Amino acid sequence: MSNVTRREFSEQTLASLVTLSLLETLFQRDAWGDEVKPIAARWLADINQLSLDVKGKQLKQVEWQKKVEELLGKVDLPEFLKFIQFDKLVQDVKFKDQGEVSLRPRFPEVEGLPKSLVYGTQVFALKKGSSVVPHGHDNMVTAFLILGGKFRGRLYDRLENGPDWMIIRPTIDREFSARDTSTISDDKDNVHWFQALTDDAFIFNIHVMSVRPGKTGRVYVDPNGEKLSDGRIRAKRLKTEDAYRLFG
Ligand SMILES: [Fe+2]
Repeated sequence: MSNVTRREFSEQTLASLVTLSLLETLFQRDAWGDEVKPIAARWLADINQLSLDVKGKQLKQVEWQKKVEELLGKVDLPEFLKFIQFDKLVQDVKFKDQGEVSLRPRFPEVEGLPKSLVYGTQVFALKKGSSVVPHGHDNMVTAFLILGGKFRGRLYDRLENGPDWMIIRPTIDREFSARDTSTISDDKDNVHWFQALTDDAFIFNIHVMSVRPGKTGRVYVDPNGEKLSDGRIRAKRLKTEDAYRLFG
């Protein structure tokens, strides 16, 4: 350091670091819009890892439920709504008289968030009185995060399977509002039913299909079936159109 004192050198280094940091900030602003930071991206990436683990059998389905609910419980909702451009997503939504409208959110490209996720996402939009109709799930884990409005949410354990029925038992029946979460799996709370108590009721849904190889998907049921002992219910399986007609 012949002509540059140690102090000058430090100042120059500091200045270039500040410039780099400023550039990064500007880059993020450009990509994200004002004030948005990638916290949402981090938990979406964490959920991706948990979902890979549950598919790879390194994680039990009930552990996926617990960990995902913990992550969703920490969400900064206004930030997340910006992240998925919620206002734009729902601005032209045509609510259905029965059932939910399913919208597909897009995530900004962010370092650390894989471009292709192992889970699917959607935003359900409902008006007052309509429902995500009662259904169970084969070989799936899913999570709900309420984004707005109020719901009556009912969940049931699925205890037995018959050819045209399943035995279920109620586990949760309560009001859900913004920031509330719930999850389902083969092992816990497999059946759910969410009825909107207000207009402009929105749910963010995460779903992992085919946790194991094999058949996967929704199974519609009528939870108002024959009451058995110990709170159990014999719930008839329903065709999709009947489920929406009866409960949508
Ligand atoms: Fe579901």
